[in-house]
Amino acid sequence: MKITKLSGNVGAQIDGVDLCKSSPEQIEAIRQALWDNGVVVFRDQALTPEAHIALAQQFGEIDVNRFFTPVAQYPMIAEVRTAASQTRVIGGTWHTDHSYDPAPAMCSILAARELPPYGGDTLFASQTAALGALSPGLRATLTGLRAWHSDGSFGADTGLLDTDASQFRPPVLHPVVIKHPQSGQAALYVNGDFTTHFDGWTKEESAPLLAHLYAFCSRPEFGCRISWQPGSVAIWDNRLVQHFACADYTGHSRLMHRITVKGQVLAAAHQA
Ligand code: SIN
Repeated sequence: MKITKLSGNVGAQIDGVDLCKSSPEQIEAIRQALWDNGVVVFRDQALTPEAHIALAQQFGEIDVNRFFTPVAQYPMIAEVRTAASQTRVIGGTWHTDHSYDPAPAMCSILAARELPPYGGDTLFASQTAALGALSPGLRATLTGLRAWHSDGSFGADTGLLDTDASQFRPPVLHPVVIKHPQSGQAALYVNGDFTTHFDGWTKEESAPLLAHLYAFCSRPEFGCRISWQPGSVAIWDNRLVQHFACADYTGHSRLMHRITVKGQVLAAAHQA
């Protein structure tokens, strides 16, 4: 297995693994690479939907997304589809999958199915690097805070998802600086799609600081960009990175299959 870093702070390409028949030792090495790099990409895979499900189950229990359209005959796989006529895309803003859940998804596994002739990259930003680059004063302030996350943005009339109102759940609280459950790394955990405000602060009071954090935490030096090719598969750890699907291929369609794997309740980092 060869691991090649994609940038200074986030992302790696892993070569020499067939994800359809990866051994427990290889899964362990991928897990470690995920914690070290936040997101890993594999090329030239022949991952059938069955193999996609089997791969995800090696990382944990599948966490079926309650808002996405499932892939026909594979209810555990979410369809991330863009029609040629669309100018906006699912995931086209910086976010963390499932942060609106009490135990947010640990990782997401995205497989390319139909790609546009150009564009449609996915961008990632390391939330450990972003946190580390904040001033000690702001880090100390954030370390004591918690923030509310809500699935309410799925109710926005974007036309991207056919949302079922019965799926909405009450908002949940997470620490603003989390301790990664396995590696212990401290990471910033607020995102523009689902975080509504800091606990004990009003939305108006929260908005300027959240806006600063969103602008800061997606700076290019904390990021990398995955250009998809037929057969590409990426796995990212939702506790370490945010991601952004780039809507730059209007006039062309794109289809990805995504599986999310269950995570756990997030604890606060006591020192960032
Ligand atoms: C997502 O936000 O999970 C989808 C990312 C993508 O389609 O590139």
